[in-house]
Amino acid sequence: MIILGIETSCDETAISLLDFQKNNRIKLLANVISSQIKTHQKYGGVVPEVAARQHLANIIPTIEFTLRKAKVQPKEIDVIAVASGPGLITSLMVGVETTKVLAYAWQKPVIGLNHIEGHIYANLLINSHLAQIKFPALCLVVSGGHTELIHMADHGQYKLVGRTLDDAAGEAFDKVAKLLKIGYPGGPAIEKIAQKGDPNAFDFPRPMIKYKNFDFSFSGLKTSVLYLVKKEFKNKKIPLADLLASFQQAVVDVLTDKTIRAAQELKIETVMMAGGVAANQKLRQELKAKIKKNLPNLKFLKPNIQHCTDNAVMIALAGYFHALKKDFTPWQKLKADPNWELV
Ligand code: KG4
Ligand code: ZN
Repeated sequence: MIILGIETSCDETAISLLDFQKNNRIKLLANVISSQIKTHQKYGGVVPEVAARQHLANIIPTIEFTLRKAKVQPKEIDVIAVASGPGLITSLMVGVETTKVLAYAWQKPVIGLNHIEGHIYANLLINSHLAQIKFPALCLVVSGGHTELIHMADHGQYKLVGRTLDDAAGEAFDKVAKLLKIGYPGGPAIEKIAQKGDPNAFDFPRPMIKYKNFDFSFSGLKTSVLYLVKKEFKNKKIPLADLLASFQQAVVDVLTDKTIRAAQELKIETVMMAGGVAANQKLRQELKAKIKKNLPNLKFLKPNIQHCTDNAVMIALAGYFHALKKDFTPWQKLKADPNWELV
């Protein structure tokens, strides 16, 4: 089954072609991302109006390029899967409206997918194979807009275990980076500098780490960084790498502690991680180490680094499970939903 994946929920025009073959083999035929990062860098964040215009200019050439790269003819495509929410409405609309046109012109079934479900299913591509999830599973979703612990009883069965009460983890990285003027997006910029720093140099708060529930809060942590910077800037003796390593450590400690505790309490069989912040090496390593120490029999999946941030491979992967159930959306009914919550 060949699936064309389309992802335009924020600032990446991403198109993929995946061939789902026998014995759970997956051939990644093409994964193309037309990135707008350079455009938005000037503004220190995504400007929705600009993003939508660029999606519009890029989407058809990117689809054509993807088909050429994969040497796939439209007639060989079985299903089109598109992220139809949540995200920026004008960005989503470009992907959704393009999908409708292609579905009509090429006569293909369509799946409108939740972007976060896509992030979760990025975990399932391992070395050209479809990984198996042992249920119940728990996914730590950490992106620019979401920080959630999601319980999965089976494919497509989601329950919210915990969530951030204010900023998302990625948002905290982005805001701290903006405050210190070290670039956009903040996560990769902070991770790079933090590598050379001492994670114990500053004792930042670990918000809600001792709370019994599985919710998070990151806005206070960001404010602690702000106060420290304001105070220390006066005497100009703030080692940036130490500051960022300590900030990153605080975020990682809270995320990993709560994930482990939730996995223990809910008798989880598989832990996964998803979203842009899942690309963070420190988070990947510490979650793996804590699982090994506390829950050695548990299955741990993580997406390939390049499939953590927004991409269309994850959309095709999630689409595959809907396609198996023939869970298609008539193209006439496909609609962008910027506020679509998975749970
Ligand atoms: O999943 P994503 O690409 O877009 C959303 O759906 O939001 O996530 C983007 C977020 C940004 O906040 C970015 O700073 C963060 O993921 N991020 C990282 C890293 N790479 C991206 N955060 C920490 N470490 C990274 N290496
Ligand atoms: Zn995303």
